[in-house]
Amino acid sequence: MQDRYGHRISYLRVSITDRCNERCTYCMPQELQEWLPREEILTFEETLRIVGIAAELGVSKVRVTGGEPLTRRDVVHFISQIPKIPGIRSLGLSTNGTLLARQITAGKTMAMALREAGVQSLNISLDTLHRHVYSQITGRDFHAQVLDGIDAAITVGFDQIKLNAVLMRGRNEDQLIPLTEFAASRNLIVRFIEMMPVSTTEVLSEDNFMSILEAKRLIESVYGSLIPETEFRTSGPASYYQIPGRGQRIGFIGAMTNLHFCESCNKLRLTCDGKLRPCLGSYLEFDIMKPLRGGATDEELKQFVLDVVDRKPEQHDFRNNYKPGRKMVAIGG
Ligand code: 5AD
Ligand code: SF4
Repeated sequence: MQDRYGHRISYLRVSITDRCNERCTYCMPQELQEWLPREEILTFEETLRIVGIAAELGVSKVRVTGGEPLTRRDVVHFISQIPKIPGIRSLGLSTNGTLLARQITAGKTMAMALREAGVQSLNISLDTLHRHVYSQITGRDFHAQVLDGIDAAITVGFDQIKLNAVLMRGRNEDQLIPLTEFAASRNLIVRFIEMMPVSTTEVLSEDNFMSILEAKRLIESVYGSLIPETEFRTSGPASYYQIPGRGQRIGFIGAMTNLHFCESCNKLRLTCDGKLRPCLGSYLEFDIMKPLRGGATDEELKQFVLDVVDRKPEQHDFRNNYKPGRKMVAIGG
């Protein structure tokens, strides 16, 4: 699938819940959350059907997100069905990490079960190594669980584990080096992410925004000039670098300041309530649940997906005084 700007769509991010056991300021408003009622959430069967349709159209990579995807019941069984879909070659999961170390049956952690279900890569959010600051950012005192979760994942051995840190001035700029060292000690990739306006408007301000350029400079002041790794790509617009002399790879995701950010975009998103979104940073969304529940054939659904791809914008709208329409937690990271 290709859109009118030459983006080749091979990657579908699937949000399976809008619920989360944390309350990250940059992801959702802090007021009491109204979760979507169950009947407005795609069933796993419906979701798998859409993934199958997308796979027939050339999607080969799926990432499961939320909310926090591991809070949904029977998530492991659902995930185990995805690699069976013809054409799907790569399966990842984004998680806050809080539930990875949890025992789900005797002697089996969630991380283990996910690996067995076919998950190849994990993205785990970790913005700070300070427990207290972690609680301030996430609204929950789950720092220890996350560290255990990371260790549980490492023990199981995924093909790739990435740590995601959202850059927040005044909150975690002192954590860039500690997080880099933490990643090095565990042989993980850490990525620093510019905050995007996807929670409430107040969260992102001139005062707390920190650019990847600034983060990179700070890191270079300690380790020396980073070496660009133009060849290394995972799945989209992150740029990767080597730290000189130690063979450690780190990444930067600069949706706000990198003007070429959207050029390599290869994604579509499916929200848990059945909307296809051609871009995270655009108001466009298309309700595929309606035709799906209205008895559409595979061919009709395929055409629906193609029409959404055709509406994919050239780039996101975040720089144009974008006002979050739907909070991140309801889109899926
Ligand atoms: N800006 C940038 N990244 C965000 N994430 C969540 N909200 C935002 C935001 N406003 C990231 C989290 C998580 C991933 C799923 O999305 O760090 O790692
Ligand atoms: Fe939950 Fe992740 Fe959003 Fe934090 S960023 S509230 S952990 S979904």
